[in-house]
Amino acid sequence: MEKKGEQRHGRLVVLVPCPFQGHISPMFELGTILYCRGFSITIAHTKFNFPNPANYPNFSFLPIADHLPEHDVASLDIVSLISYLNGNCEAPLLESLSQIMEKPHTKITCIIYDTLMHYSEAVANRLKLTSIILRTSSVATLIAYSKFTQLQQEGYFPLKEHLLQEMVPVLYPLRFKDLPTIDFASLESLMELTNIIIAKRSSAIIWNSMDCLEESELAQHQQQYQVPFFSIGPLYKFATASSSSIIAEDTCCITWLDRKTPNSVIYVSLGSLASMTEKELAEMAWGLANSKQPFLWVIRPNSVCGSEWIELLPKDFKEAVGERGCIVKWAPQKEVLAHPAVEGFWSHCSWNSTLESISEGVPMICRPCFGDQKVNARYVCHVWKVGLELENELEREEVTRAVRRLMVSAEGMEMRQKTIELKEKVESSMKNGGSSYNSLVK
Ligand code: UDX
Repeated sequence: MEKKGEQRHGRLVVLVPCPFQGHISPMFELGTILYCRGFSITIAHTKFNFPNPANYPNFSFLPIADHLPEHDVASLDIVSLISYLNGNCEAPLLESLSQIMEKPHTKITCIIYDTLMHYSEAVANRLKLTSIILRTSSVATLIAYSKFTQLQQEGYFPLKEHLLQEMVPVLYPLRFKDLPTIDFASLESLMELTNIIIAKRSSAIIWNSMDCLEESELAQHQQQYQVPFFSIGPLYKFATASSSSIIAEDTCCITWLDRKTPNSVIYVSLGSLASMTEKELAEMAWGLANSKQPFLWVIRPNSVCGSEWIELLPKDFKEAVGERGCIVKWAPQKEVLAHPAVEGFWSHCSWNSTLESISEGVPMICRPCFGDQKVNARYVCHVWKVGLELENELEREEVTRAVRRLMVSAEGMEMRQKTIELKEKVESSMKNGGSSYNSLVK
């Protein structure tokens, strides 16, 4: 048997993920795909959110000292955390890779880094290595960011309240309220964070997207770059990997789903980062209870800031729903979405969840929280027409109405039908001759 970390035909690829769940998953999936194609894989990972190497026997791990202020890392917002990592990790990565390259018979084929970890570009440059970027968001999101300079020059920022519902002139079908952000310190920092400038120095950009969803966006965005694009999504469908969850999955919900009628359950999850207030938790709870539909609800510990887990749920709620509701801390989401009992997904619409829902033919209730989620939600509802948006303040009657609209109305049936058609297109794009397949074998 091949030893862990042993070079396979001298072809070593170094992967640099951004250490958050929604970014780790697609990078590890890409690693699995490349491993199956004969490369050996080294994951250069920050100490922060370091995965358990025992779960990935085919990969080697290179811990990168991130020098994060351990005592208050929890208090940092994501943008500050990413900024710290970009500031702190360049030297340790450079040193670690230099050591690897000094070993005899060791040749690094390339570095593939998450677009947010742009310090890797400088390291690749210093070591004269090929660099490739993995973009883990939708193409539409990057197009939106790339128009910020123009919107700024046209005097739209700071954005006036009355414009929020208006269409953005250069970004159909987005309204101003769908922009990934309207609140940024400076255009420079925004461009740095989204890596729009540095990306142009890489050798290629890999997208976890596909033509059947974003063909025109890919073509439009490609025009701004000299480097080739490869859209090879949905990565998770190509990679039969073991789960890359940082949180333990509670598989008891699959047994619960097995007992439910086909196409009856709404799955509710707001991903790995989004949070809510105690009032929103209560409105969600009573909205789901009053919908009379069975539901599987992922409530992460600390979903409501400071909560242990579900102690803040309304007192009578559990009694009111009984066996009709199942609540877990973290679910095996892909398995859940593929389960015959699941008919709808109430999602925050971050990119992995959106891709997974479409790929499994499950229509969505969209409740975006921040960033790219707002762009994705707009596309789900207005371009692909496979979901409905739950807008405005979260309120129980609205929740109940949305759940019943998706699950038991003619309109919901139509969305289901459209999602199944889109799922079939995704499947075709992965088959020999399909767009994602072709990009992958190029
Ligand atoms: C984050 C940002 O919120 C988002 O805007 C950006 O696009 C990616 O990073 P996240 O909240 O982690 O997204 O959601 P998502 O992109 O959907 O990724 C979460 C991953 O965790 C998915 O692959 C999903 O299948 C998995 N998951 C989620 C589980 O396995 N179990 C769960 O209970 C919830």
